[in-house]
Amino acid sequence: MDTSQRMQRSWRQVAALAAFAVLMLAPTTQAKSKKVSDYFLVCRRGDPDFAGCVKRSIEDARPRLVKGMPEVRLPSIDPLRIEQLEMQEGQGNFRFLMRLKNVSVTGLKDFTVRSIKADWALGSWVLDMFTPHQHFEGQYEMEGRLMSLPIQGSGDATMDFDGVTTIGELQLKNVTRKGKAYVSVDSFRWKIDVENAKSHFTNLFNGDKTLGETTNKFLNENWRDAFDTYKHLPEEAFSQFFTELQNRFYEQFSIDELYPE
Ligand SMILES: *[C@@H]1O[C@H](CO)[C@@H](O)[C@H](O)[C@H]1NC(C)=O
Ligand SMILES: *[C@@H]1O[C@H](CO)[C@@H](O)[C@H](O)[C@H]1NC(C)=O
Repeated sequence: MDTSQRMQRSWRQVAALAAFAVLMLAPTTQAKSKKVSDYFLVCRRGDPDFAGCVKRSIEDARPRLVKGMPEVRLPSIDPLRIEQLEMQEGQGNFRFLMRLKNVSVTGLKDFTVRSIKADWALGSWVLDMFTPHQHFEGQYEMEGRLMSLPIQGSGDATMDFDGVTTIGELQLKNVTRKGKAYVSVDSFRWKIDVENAKSHFTNLFNGDKTLGETTNKFLNENWRDAFDTYKHLPEEAFSQFFTELQNRFYEQFSIDELYPE
């Protein structure tokens, strides 16, 4: 490992604390008669093809996931609105900070579930998903050094990703509330890979046209390096985002309602 790799490694530890996402909170409604089966195909925990059932359940829910299910606190996934994504790492001369606000993500409706492994008793899941195209837009603020290039600006940002593979390693735990058993997310590791990426930032360097164009061009020509160097930041931000999203749903239904015997 050379010095720069070692430095990247230690920035990552800082970054682990620094990447976070803020959900757009859907208003809560307190309908008493909510049933899981009104929203999802219910999978029995003893089903010999439990993982296959969960896969079908997710695919079957696609139109409702796209529309959003505010009654059970699930927002629309297409467009998916994220109030803020913040990614930060490094220190001093190597610091990099990017804040994306009012983010809208489109393309998630075309997801496919490539495979699911699920061990009900251990609460361990691996979800392998693919999306052909994802488009992000929002307002950004950015400063510091990106791949040793000084960068600074605030304005509008768009990012396009083709062939997005997302692998989520999910560990659930059991929690008891008021004598009832519920599940909750213990950890959710998120790995992202893309086949192609393109971005555009307006108003870099306070609107300096030449510097802005050069920087946008540099980032697009070197997208693979940039993505590989910084992908742990969105991975951590999205892990948090989807942990919060799942927990909001899991809080509402006991284990026996979610996965009956
Ligand atoms: C947030 O984004 C939406 C569309 O993506 C846009 O219409 C709206 O003006 C933005 N709001 C702010 C405060 O920038
Ligand atoms: C959670 O509780 C259920 C029901 O008692 C049990 O079958 C399962 O193994 C538990 N899961 C974990 C991760 O401990």
